[in-house]
Amino acid sequence: MTRYKRERLAMAVECTVIEHYRHGALEDALLKGLAAAGKDVNNLTPDDLAPADEFHIGGRQATIDFAAEFKPSADTHWLDIGSGLGGPSRYVAHTYHCRIIGVDLSEEYVGVAGSLSRRVGLGGKVSYRQASALALPFENNTFDGAYMQHVGMNIADKAKLFGEVHRVLKPGGIFAIYDVMRGNDGIFSYPVPWASAAETNFVEAPATYRAQLAAEGFEVVKERNRRDFAMDLFSALQAKVIQAGGSSKFGLQIVMGANTSQKVGNMISMIERGTVGPVEMICRRIEVNPHAENM
Ligand SMILES: C[S@@+](CC[C@H](N)C(=O)[O-])C[C@H]1O[C@@H](n2cnc3c(N)ncnc32)[C@H](O)[C@@H]1O
Repeated sequence: MTRYKRERLAMAVECTVIEHYRHGALEDALLKGLAAAGKDVNNLTPDDLAPADEFHIGGRQATIDFAAEFKPSADTHWLDIGSGLGGPSRYVAHTYHCRIIGVDLSEEYVGVAGSLSRRVGLGGKVSYRQASALALPFENNTFDGAYMQHVGMNIADKAKLFGEVHRVLKPGGIFAIYDVMRGNDGIFSYPVPWASAAETNFVEAPATYRAQLAAEGFEVVKERNRRDFAMDLFSALQAKVIQAGGSSKFGLQIVMGANTSQKVGNMISMIERGTVGPVEMICRRIEVNPHAENM
């Protein structure tokens, strides 16, 4: 396939990804959900938002565990790739006293992330821009570190993605990944939280990530399979819902829409069967010699 065709295809995929995540009136729906759950929407904290603004397996707890693996130093500058509604960036910036820029394809998510951050008083620490992870709008060597959570599943060209992250990181910078990855060749059921159909699902095995990361100049310093963490959490959540006689009025169902239970049900079944599972990889930028093959 020519480069032109590859780029046209990637742009078409990005339009379908934006459509998959589109809500239309998300901020309003979130505020209504918060009010229904008994929160004062004019006096919110980052923790109040956590049930709905951490859009990945394990929610806030997963972000706490993930960030503890790379612990940004105070006053460093980090990039959140596919920042969603901004829950992870608000938690990381607030906890580790660093600055974060999030990029996301969805204009709607970027707007909501900024607005929620201002509501909880973190507008000076985090900011968001609409952009593709495949064309990051930053100079070379800009960030001390970068991370992404549950984004790689929407991106076919992992080499281009990792190459872009490598370019904008400073030498030695950390790139942390928490994605859903392939476990076996089992059949895929749709919809799932990140894709309505196969055309925007690019889940890959950890070995593929490792190979592409190495080719783009990253060393994987730690890898952790989060399947058991996820399964324990799903059981605990199910028990909580049964005990409470239903789901809380403020949760990710507001973001995922009417077919939330189908999306989550398909994902959990595939995790149970080992077809997919959440995996963390902590990587470090190393230098690559682009002429090495010709020497
Ligand atoms: C499942 S959500 C995760 C959001 C956030 N990382 C979190 O954990 O709360 C996936 C996000 O990735 C974004 N995304 C997908 N493909 C992208 C791309 N090529 N460039 C930038 N963002 C992308 C989507 O718009 C969506 O907000």
